[in-house]
Amino acid sequence: MSDNKKVVLTGIKPTGEPHLGNYFGAIKPALELVKDYQARYFIADYHALNGLKDPQLMREYTLSIAAAWLACGLDPAEVIFYRQSQVPEIFELTTFLMAFTAKGLMNRAHAYKAAVDENERGGQNPDHQINMGLFTYPVLMAADILLFDTQLVPVGQDQKQHVEMAADIAQAVNHCYNQSLFVIPQTYIQTEQALVIGLDGRKMSKSYGNIIPLFAPAKQLKKLVNSIVTNSQGVEEKKDPDTCSVFTLYKLFASAQQQGELAREYRAGGMGWGHAKAQLFDVMENALAPLRSKYEELMAKPDEIYQLLDEGRAKIHKIAREKMQILREVVGLAHV
Ligand code: TRP
Repeated sequence: MSDNKKVVLTGIKPTGEPHLGNYFGAIKPALELVKDYQARYFIADYHALNGLKDPQLMREYTLSIAAAWLACGLDPAEVIFYRQSQVPEIFELTTFLMAFTAKGLMNRAHAYKAAVDENERGGQNPDHQINMGLFTYPVLMAADILLFDTQLVPVGQDQKQHVEMAADIAQAVNHCYNQSLFVIPQTYIQTEQALVIGLDGRKMSKSYGNIIPLFAPAKQLKKLVNSIVTNSQGVEEKKDPDTCSVFTLYKLFASAQQQGELAREYRAGGMGWGHAKAQLFDVMENALAPLRSKYEELMAKPDEIYQLLDEGRAKIHKIAREKMQILREVVGLAHV
């Protein structure tokens, strides 16, 4: 790993089983970048704590997100792979960044605003069930990113605003001390995969309950594919692939040639939704079955996963400690 390569970093919250949105939004693009960057991929477990208070589930989801990364091809010899909660400097940097983060910036965060809107719609107090972890979520995320001089952050479209906030906060610090203490991070979004839609046609998200788990057993996967919402057009009617959830998901898995063929069947008429769904299931099963068996193998040996994460902790901690020491000196919190 040469030091002059730029840094790519991303995290996934362990708040549920890994799903197709995690895979296409973060895991796959991130793994494609590994050869050209210094890669740092982690489990954002303190971000998860804001909404997940069941310790058993926290452990389970942490293992399953870690196993998902590994099953999809993360090589811990190439990537520093760790748990956020094991790197105390991230939380020190969070406190540091709080002093440079305008409260108004946090008021504008989409995730926070959505929670407030929902409270207002439900006739609740706007602060109902909103903890400070949710309100300051972008500051912790900025610390995740800025501590490691990250240039590139592969995330789904919904996280773009958070990365922009990290850039804003970095600029505020750099400006204050008139030096480039932080690298300004950029979002990396693969345009064709910017949004993975879920079973109901909305963005695939744990909070919408419309996910397709990445490692669902074949039988469950088939059932889920069959439950994708379609319109009520009859078999004979000509159909539009471009406005159809089934086809949108198909595009993520099928070759260009397969896509062309199924699109022709849509447009010709005489094709029922059952056929389109069967085609979708086939390409999915083909792509996911090998990952699923790797995942199951890994999940059977949790100690090995913990061991890998501990090794990652040791590597990342060294980098974190050095950066934090520089920052303390610059602001006058350490002897020089
Ligand atoms: N907020 C991200 C999500 O919900 C997870 C995350 C936490 C993250 N810290 C990060 C992603 C740092 C990229 C970089 O998907």
